[in-house]
Amino acid sequence: MRPFRVVHEAKASHYKARYSMKVLFIAAEASPLARVGGLAEVVSSLARALTTMGHEVRLILPHYGCIKVLSPRSKVKELAALNPRPRTSDIGPLKVSFMGRSEPATLKMTTLKEEIPVYLVENDQYFGGPEVYTDNDLERFLFFSLAIPGILSRLDWRPDIIHCHDWHTSLVPLWLKEIGCVFPTVFTIHNLAYQGAFNQQFLAVSGLSKVWQKHIPNDAPTPSLNFMSQGILLANIVTTVSPTYAAEILTPEYGEGLEHLLRYRQKELYGIVNGIDYEEYNPATDHYLVTNYNSFTVEKRVANKIALQKKANLPQDVDVPLIGMVSRLDEQKGFDLLLPAMESLMGKTKIQFVILGKGREYYQELLREAEQKYPDRVAVFVTFDDSLAHLIYGGSDMFLLPSRFEPCGLGQLIAMRYGAIPVVRHTGGLADTVQDTDANIEKGNGFVFQDYHPASLIEAVKRAEGFFYHKDAWQKLMKRNMLLDFSWEASAKMYQDIYRKAIKRQK
Ligand code: GLC
Repeated sequence: MRPFRVVHEAKASHYKARYSMKVLFIAAEASPLARVGGLAEVVSSLARALTTMGHEVRLILPHYGCIKVLSPRSKVKELAALNPRPRTSDIGPLKVSFMGRSEPATLKMTTLKEEIPVYLVENDQYFGGPEVYTDNDLERFLFFSLAIPGILSRLDWRPDIIHCHDWHTSLVPLWLKEIGCVFPTVFTIHNLAYQGAFNQQFLAVSGLSKVWQKHIPNDAPTPSLNFMSQGILLANIVTTVSPTYAAEILTPEYGEGLEHLLRYRQKELYGIVNGIDYEEYNPATDHYLVTNYNSFTVEKRVANKIALQKKANLPQDVDVPLIGMVSRLDEQKGFDLLLPAMESLMGKTKIQFVILGKGREYYQELLREAEQKYPDRVAVFVTFDDSLAHLIYGGSDMFLLPSRFEPCGLGQLIAMRYGAIPVVRHTGGLADTVQDTDANIEKGNGFVFQDYHPASLIEAVKRAEGFFYHKDAWQKLMKRNMLLDFSWEASAKMYQDIYRKAIKRQK
């Protein structure tokens, strides 16, 4: 558990780095341009935090059809004023040697929040559609990663460090080695469950078979047939998004079959907990909320709760505890615990549930059934909806994350910032950021359970409900959580140190 620091709301301390580094991020997602999950938020908010520290950060992303940008030649000023989208400019054509042919692409440039330059790799066949992910991702991200060396040689900007995020970019260290490029690399695992796994046939047709073992040290384990394994074995430093997850993934239970590779890199494997963007997630200014508030005015928060109950068609009653969830509907997120626990929770507690998320059909259906069975207690929104997500953070009393595994988790951090008390399973980043209130009355900030079992979840929720009825203690807990510091400041400094280490190692 990292020692929590407490911030004063008025304070905006900005640490300035003594040496500025040029950092190139390569990723499949960056918010708000292309956003599917937590990866997008972390890529953008870390990039911004490093920029604030004085580093020069740039990004490379695929140019998906969903990234709507205006060309600099666009004369439609009114449109730009009405809907201010970032502008792009063409840098020029690229040729990517790929699966035995030469595939054309265009390199474009835009900005993130008007401050961070973003290079976009445009190729209509692979990235022209609106979706970030499709069922052809192996080929699409092979192409994307192969475009990177050519881009580096085109730019009049030379990064000091290349930071690759998740499996989509984990072949980049391999391609750099292949052409003798000596850029230091950091590879961050945001979720080990997604590895870009393939079969022997793909190995042959992709051309990967020629290089698969080539740069792997002799004493290293054989890379498993997935993109992720090359990033783990070849990057100068490997990181993941919390210290507990960094330890967990060395074990067969959490290692997803890659634990032997991770153990081989154990000395260069670091866990750094994610931060959240404190400007974007600020209950005092959040325009999605019905009422803004801060830690001194938490009592105003009830207006958001009533608005949320109204929106969810649940009885509007401030004295009934309300649990919120904003989550991918996925096995990872613990729905196999929640669904069997639901029946019992309906009988043993008075709690209302508001659940927002999209994902597996199976969970969607079961949640809808629960909603039909308990219309006064359960509301389910199967969609992506930013405004509702913010209202859930700002209006629910508790925020549930019963994950089977959780590399970091951002929901519990946002919830604490908004005064919704987290109820979580003790795993990964949840273990690093939420301490049980009963175990530590002075410092606890939520309700934590250990076993991946419905009975443990039920027990934690019941404890949380019991605490909720002690209004004064609950208010104190909300205030304490709202003053905890989960901004990027501390973690971005750790990344800066990791970059220095990677640079030293590469020399
Ligand atoms: C993935 C993980 C999540 C993490 C996020 C950003 O979505 O599942 O735990 O917070 O990446 O690193």
